[in-house]
Amino acid sequence: MIRTDSVENAMAIRRQLAHDHHRPRYHFQAPANWMNDPNGFIHWRGQYHLFYQHHPFGPLHANMHWGHAVSSDLVHWRDLPMGLTPTPGGPDAGGCWSGCAVDNDGVPTLMYTGVSPEVQCIATGSPDMLTWTKYPGNPVIGAQPAGMTLTGFRDPCVWREGRMWHMVLGSGITSHGQDRGAVLLYRSPDLISWEYLGPLLEDDQPQAGVVWECPSFFPLGDRHVLFISVTSTGYVEYFVGAYREHRFEPDCGAHLDHSGLFYAPQSTLDAFGRRLLFGWLRESRSDALVTAAGWSGMQSVPRVLTLRPDGRPGIAPAPELSTLRRTHWSAHNQTIAPESKGVLPDATGSSLEILAEFAPGSASHFGLKLLQSPDGAEETGVVYDRAAQTLTVDRSRSCATPDGVDISPQSASLPLSDGDTLRLHIYLDGSAIEIFANGHTCLTSRVYPSRRDSVGLDVFAAGGSVGLKSLDVWQMASIWE
Ligand code: FRU
Repeated sequence: MIRTDSVENAMAIRRQLAHDHHRPRYHFQAPANWMNDPNGFIHWRGQYHLFYQHHPFGPLHANMHWGHAVSSDLVHWRDLPMGLTPTPGGPDAGGCWSGCAVDNDGVPTLMYTGVSPEVQCIATGSPDMLTWTKYPGNPVIGAQPAGMTLTGFRDPCVWREGRMWHMVLGSGITSHGQDRGAVLLYRSPDLISWEYLGPLLEDDQPQAGVVWECPSFFPLGDRHVLFISVTSTGYVEYFVGAYREHRFEPDCGAHLDHSGLFYAPQSTLDAFGRRLLFGWLRESRSDALVTAAGWSGMQSVPRVLTLRPDGRPGIAPAPELSTLRRTHWSAHNQTIAPESKGVLPDATGSSLEILAEFAPGSASHFGLKLLQSPDGAEETGVVYDRAAQTLTVDRSRSCATPDGVDISPQSASLPLSDGDTLRLHIYLDGSAIEIFANGHTCLTSRVYPSRRDSVGLDVFAAGGSVGLKSLDVWQMASIWE
């Protein structure tokens, strides 16, 4: 068993696992073992602190601790001692589940869910955030609101509104034999005594047993945004709307990412006024393969949220990531025909950033091929389908030995108007692929090539030709070197 409950050997463990070509080089992840949700993400005294759900003694979900890391540039991270550890006999004996960090007049404070049952706890930190003291009166919320039957009661997201603290909890309300995902709103003068104000939002569709997990609620421009992670679908939904008198009235909503592999995102406002976001990238392979690998899960690249003129959230990779760019290859203004091959033959690798702009021509399908083996037996397609107006990650040939690996396609609807180009911004990193398309559509994928030499890259067109306006590829540096 690899132990990751101490910071001493974290770097040695990272080096030990670096031979695994499915491990990312520039996505943040735990030294080894299980990781899920980002927690307590905060910009504190000029440094970004990121906590995360972590099982320090095994690669599957159990025994939740809060791992902890710090960064001064949002890109390079340093492991810190464990943030939260379950206290035997305490209200978090069964695990320290997800939550947030706030600045309580200079005192860093974590609010999180202890299990089981699900109750809300707080812990205060030293100014350097290296030691944490649990509030002796935990739990600060030990009971669900009177008279309600809930499917879940967890994942506090706390903010200050005037002189009062406010908080939303992830939940689901059972009523007349039906369950509906819901977010519950509370307020408090001191983070300790909490008053339930009512549901901030409740689903209009019932779904048996559903929980709206990990709510994240914040102002963006002149609107408010709510993210929820839905247990029954595995997707993250966003809502944008008006927040007045403790009610949230959304006027639009949709998937935040078009695959269920990006989950439980958490956002924070940094000192530069940017709304930043991390999300958990889940695995897309069996527990047996995860156990053999000895690790599971990573964080997305840091993303910056904005409100677009059409009233929907815009999501872009944080500009700081460009400091990781190394060798650069580029091609411009080429016509790609079905027989074209090797547009940038030297551009290879499994940790790349790729910017591509296509002007649709007569091709019915076009896009990129990533992680190609020299014989072409393994490859992952990023495919635009003109007729269907979809962008798809084709994983059918990503892995020559797909036992236990999910190779189903992942698609996003992406209509292009006449004259529109397709602009793809792709972060490829070991088994992780994050695609930002035309500044508004996110599609996250995981693939597990069986061969280490599956590192080729190309563009393609089928059923006609496509204009490649530009292709830029960078090899990316590791964030741990
Ligand atoms: C979301 C989640 C949260 C919970 C945590 C437990 O992935 O299920 O609702 O707090 O993970 O690890």
